[in-house]
This record gives sequence, C-alpha cells and structure tokens, in this order.
Amino acid sequence: MALPVVDTEYVKEVDKARRDLRALIASRNCAPIMLRLAYLLSLSLFVSVEIARNENEGKWSGPNGSIRSEEEYSHGSNSGLKKAIDWCEEVKSKRPKITYADLYQLAGVVAVEVTGGPTIDFVPGRKDSIVSPKEGRLPDAKQGAPHLRDIFYRMGLSDKDIVALSGGHTLGRAHPERSGFDGPWTMEPLKFDNSYFVELLKGESEGLLQLPTDKALLDDPKFGHYVELYAKDEDAFFRDYAESHKKLSELGFAPR
Ligand code: HEM
Repeated sequence: MALPVVDTEYVKEVDKARRDLRALIASRNCAPIMLRLAYLLSLSLFVSVEIARNENEGKWSGPNGSIRSEEEYSHGSNSGLKKAIDWCEEVKSKRPKITYADLYQLAGVVAVEVTGGPTIDFVPGRKDSIVSPKEGRLPDAKQGAPHLRDIFYRMGLSDKDIVALSGGHTLGRAHPERSGFDGPWTMEPLKFDNSYFVELLKGESEGLLQLPTDKALLDDPKFGHYVELYAKDEDAFFRDYAESHKKLSELGFAPR
C-alpha cells in the first residue's frame, strides 16, 4: 500500500532518528523488544483501521501510534512494551516532528539491521491518532496453523509472510511474568540470523523455547516448505524477511 508523501525536511529528521535509534538500541541491547513493539503495533494498527472503516461506513480513517496509550500497552499481550515505549520517547523528544507511528516502525527496522539482519526499505508518512483497538485480536501463541492463517490472511499476508516473519523470534526471549512462556528460541538471541529455523527443525532442545505457533509451522506442509528453505538458505530468509517486514510495517495505509 502506498504511503503519503513527506517533505525533504521530514526525511532528514528520519535519518537523524535512525542514527539516534542505532545508538540507543546498541547501548541498551534492546533490539528484541523494539522489534516486538513494531510488530504488535502494526497488527493493532491494522485492527484499528479495520474498526474505523466499519464505523465510518468504509471510509479510511488513517493509521496511528495508539500503542503508546496506557489502555493499550497494559493489554496482556503487550506487557513489557512500556520500557520500549519510554526509550522511543527519548528519541521523540529530540525529534518531535516524527510521528510515533513512523518512529516505532523505524525502531523495528533498525533493530533488525543492528543485530545483523537484512536492510529493510523504510518509507515514512504514517500519521498518529490515539484510538486503541479492542484487546484480543493478536495471535494466540497456544494455537495452530488455522489460527495463524486466520489472523495474517485478513491483513493480506501470505503463508510465506507468516513463516518469514515468525523468523523474528531469532531475536529475544519469552518472559514468564509477561506471557507465561520462558526462554529464547536460539542460542544467540541478540543476533538476527536463520537459527530460529535450524532449531525448529532440530526439535526441542533443553533451554530453548518453541511456542505451539512455532511448532505449527512444521506440521503444515505449506509452512514446512519455507521452514526447510530458510534453515538451509539464510540469503533466501533475509530476502523474504525484508519483503514481509516491509509489508507488515505498511499495513493500514491508505491508497494514494
Ligand atoms: C516474543 C508470540 C510473531 C517478534 C514473543 C512472545 C510470545 C510471542 C508469546 C514472548 C513474550 C514475552 O514473554 O516477553 C508470538 C506469536 C506470533 C508472533 C503467537 C505469531 C506468529 C512475531 C513476529 C515478530 C515477533 C511476526 C516480528 C517480526 C518477537 C520478538 C520477541 C517476541 C522479537 C522477543 C521480545 C523480547 O525479547 O522481549 N512473541 N509472536 N513475533 N516476538 Fe513474537
């Protein structure tokens, strides 16, 4: 979907914010939570736009940075994101022209880059509003392939996108106090590589986590094809991940 055009001054501010985010993410080692923030925001943004469309009889009412409202980040599924939001606020206070919606998506792109992942094309132009979606529309980690398809297909994403994006779990870990799950998916949770897929194919290993939604990628033949491809070909994973991440980060934008 096309994004609104921004002026050259805004583009310069985005470049500066990108540098600020690189420094911030390096000094706090917080790439995983920044990536999760961007991902959850994209999903909830899509839901808000869907709701707004219904309420306005089909008229598009714009994407937003609504996750920063307390109502939303206190949702169970967003637990732990407050810290990431506060860190982004440090950049926002230096670069006030940048919208929150652009800032959070830029943070996700930078998080992948600075941990060794692919370069993701970032197009600015998202607008902010403070309307939060209802809770309970994000993927449930205890479910299987039909649930993943139900959520991601609605957003125009494909089987390939679902598997490539699940590779985001190459970064970070689960926290018992946040989700009830515990542990990282890979041995090096601060490095963006294809080890999520390598570990998934190996089966359960002590100390590493596989959510039911991760395992579901193996049980389904269409998903399984991509898991095997990405486990043996990191370039293919990086290429597809960059494309799928861009799509995810541009959900909910109005056609020009
Ligand atoms: C963490 C579920 C997709 C990026 C988590 C956690 C759960 C989860 C339960 C643990 C949260 C915690 O305890 O702190 C899911 C489900 C998905 C999904 C059910 C559906 C496919 C994605 C996608 C991305 C992503 C598409 C990004 C492209 C992350 C990251 C973390 C994480 C980076 C680690 C955060 C940290 O270390 O604090 N996810 N996720 N996830 N997720 Fe996902």
